[in-house]
Amino acid sequence: MTRLHHLLALICLTLVANAALAETSAGSLATVKTLQVNRHLSEDGKACIDCHRDVSPGQVADWKESRHAHAGVSCIDCHAVPEDSPMAVRHANTSDTRVFVSPLVSPKTCGRCHADAKKQFDASGHFRAYRQIIPKDSLHALVQVHEGQAIPELQNAPDETGCMQCHGTEIKLDEHNRPTPQTWPNNGMGNIYPDGATGSCTACHSRHRFDIAEARKPNACASCHLGPDHPNIEIFNNSKHGHIYNTQGDDWNWDSAPDAWEPGDYRAPTCATCHMSGIGELSVTHNVSERLYWNLWAKRSDVRGSDDVMSPLLGDGPAGREKMKKVCSNCHTSTHTDGFFAQGDKAVRLYNEGYYEPATAMLTELREAGLLKDNPWTDDFQITYYYLWHHQGRRARQGAMMGAPDYAHWHGFFELQQDLYKLQQIHARRMESGLIE
Ligand code: HEC
Ligand code: HEC
Ligand code: HEC
Ligand code: HEC
Ligand code: HEC
Ligand code: HEC
Ligand code: HEC
Ligand code: HEC
Repeated sequence: MTRLHHLLALICLTLVANAALAETSAGSLATVKTLQVNRHLSEDGKACIDCHRDVSPGQVADWKESRHAHAGVSCIDCHAVPEDSPMAVRHANTSDTRVFVSPLVSPKTCGRCHADAKKQFDASGHFRAYRQIIPKDSLHALVQVHEGQAIPELQNAPDETGCMQCHGTEIKLDEHNRPTPQTWPNNGMGNIYPDGATGSCTACHSRHRFDIAEARKPNACASCHLGPDHPNIEIFNNSKHGHIYNTQGDDWNWDSAPDAWEPGDYRAPTCATCHMSGIGELSVTHNVSERLYWNLWAKRSDVRGSDDVMSPLLGDGPAGREKMKKVCSNCHTSTHTDGFFAQGDKAVRLYNEGYYEPATAMLTELREAGLLKDNPWTDDFQITYYYLWHHQGRRARQGAMMGAPDYAHWHGFFELQQDLYKLQQIHARRMESGLIE
């Protein structure tokens, strides 16, 4: 017996199987649960593992280390689909199994056992990550016409290797019910699955470990939240919290149960601590919009106040601010926290009033005078306007609100004033001459 066979035999024989939770999911510690335990994997369930440890040993090894393996949740529980499912593939290589499977596992499947996580996700800004792009013609033109140079068979490459990998897409199936290479693989946050579910639980909990420790680390967010237009990982690294995480994080305790991970396990917050984790009186939330006050990614930042998941103002700003302050209060006093938000809010208002408003007034004037080029991506005014709100403006706002002085200042307000002066010069030239240079 190889070591792997031995371990697998151990898992099959002795470990807990089918932990059926009476409550919807692991949530608040105050919720009393009844746990019913049946110690077995079905014959079909064992067959998957037996064969796949040769076919795809990496997947089996990851699964074996997961909480799912401990709880007896195995390949078949996530991959088996009803015969009439649009994604059903009869397992071709295994003549003796009657099981229909799919390589796709949507949040609907996870939600069978983790109903709260799915419900919260469905109410979050992450849910709309793909849906909100669908109606935006100017963005499709950017990708296909300008980046893709309108070459019919190649024009979607920038989407397939870029946008889609972070935002997701609508996953389409081929004639064998397998996902098409135009739409999969991807871990994009807002994928729409053929079974109608939306989202990507693997975006933060990579398969087949499905680990909470991984999702608690900033690296889990960094694959998408980076770069010139939303440099959240760079901002975190620039903050005092990031400094402490980067020097001591390896020694922290990352495995505590949900709602029991608290200061002491760590010295400084990560992305998850502030935006998602249970801490103090706050419970774990998969709704990353819940603790926000402003909308910082928008052209102009306004206070959130909408229940509509597609609204740019999704959330309840004042309630979100209270929750975020409760995070801080675990390690800082109210004088410190109130002072910090007074500084940050002032920067957001300066961006709105000092930059967004005057820049937009000039844009409107030029548009009305017919002094903008049709192709925005060859027009110095429109390009600079785009950088003003989408790149430097977001950096200034997000840098200020998350304690990153280099992003608030050098990558933020310093560049904003340069943009504004440039816009003023182009605007003056065009209005005086009546011509586009
Ligand atoms: C006798 C061996 C064997 C058994 C038993 C088996 N598989 Fe597979 N499975 C394979 C092989 C071989 C492939 C194809 C691998 C490839 O294409 O690289 C595969 C592919 C898959 C895929 C991807 C399918 C696709 O369309 O791309 C999934 C999902 C899967 N198996 C899940 C399961 C599940 C769940 C079970 C148990 C119900 C199971 N397998 C049982 C050998 C097996
Ligand atoms: C907790 C649910 C869960 C369990 C248990 C699980 N998987 Fe998966 N698996 C997923 C998810 C989620 C994906 C990503 C699918 C997607 O992109 O929609 C995936 C993807 C896959 C894929 C296709 C992608 C690839 O990288 O090849 C295969 C094959 C696969 N799993 C095999 C297995 C095998 C074998 C087991 C058992 C050892 C297993 N899975 C157990 C959830 C699960
Ligand atoms: C058949 C039920 C079932 C399904 C389906 C299922 N899970 Fe789980 N999951 C469990 C059980 C049971 C546990 C262990 C108890 C716990 O920690 O909540 C668990 C634990 C977890 C954990 C905590 C792991 C840790 O490190 O403590 C995560 C994260 C998770 N599941 C994610 C997922 C995702 C993502 C999917 C879908 C791809 C999924 N689960 C599908 C039953 C399931
Ligand atoms: C797979 C890519 C991806 C990963 C990983 C990811 N995000 Fe996001 N996130 C996005 C996208 C895309 C959006 C924009 C959603 C939209 O269209 O409004 C977003 C938006 C957000 C928002 C703003 C929501 C709103 O209402 O405006 C917050 C806060 C956020 N993410 C936090 C996190 C945190 C914290 C993590 C890690 C624990 C994380 N994200 C991991 C892609 C990702
Ligand atoms: C590296 C990952 C990544 C890539 C690639 C990416 N985005 Fe985003 N996008 C994000 C994140 C993260 C946010 C959220 C920013 C925030 O909340 O501050 C976002 C925000 C957005 C928003 C604003 C959110 C809303 O609800 O309106 C739009 C629109 C958008 N992206 C479109 C696109 C398009 C179109 C592409 C491809 C041309 C693209 N993105 C490429 C990660 C990405
Ligand atoms: C944006 C990143 C992100 C995404 C996407 C995400 N999770 Fe999580 N998840 C986390 C973090 C962070 C934690 C740990 C919270 C804490 O500190 O206890 C967590 C914890 C969990 C837990 C254990 C805690 C609990 O409340 O039961 C489960 C189960 C879970 N996630 C399931 C899911 C499912 C199902 C999905 C898809 C609907 C999903 N997650 C999507 C980041 C994410
Ligand atoms: C110390 C707590 C803290 C940490 C750590 C933290 N954030 Fe934030 N984050 C905030 C606050 C506060 C805001 C602004 C909330 C508001 O609107 O008042 C914010 C805003 C955001 C936004 C902007 C949402 C929008 O409206 O456009 C995103 C995206 C985001 N954070 C992602 C992350 C990511 C990713 C990480 C880790 C790399 C991270 N945050 C680390 C506290 C934190
Ligand atoms: C888990 C504990 C913890 C949490 C939660 C936390 N911080 Fe901190 N924070 C620290 C530690 C430790 C330092 C480093 C203090 C030092 O500079 O010596 C720090 C430093 C800071 C600094 C740098 C200025 C200074 O005092 O050194 C700011 C600003 C800050 N935190 C704001 C916040 C805000 C705002 C929140 C909530 C959104 C928050 N923190 C949440 C632990 C925490």
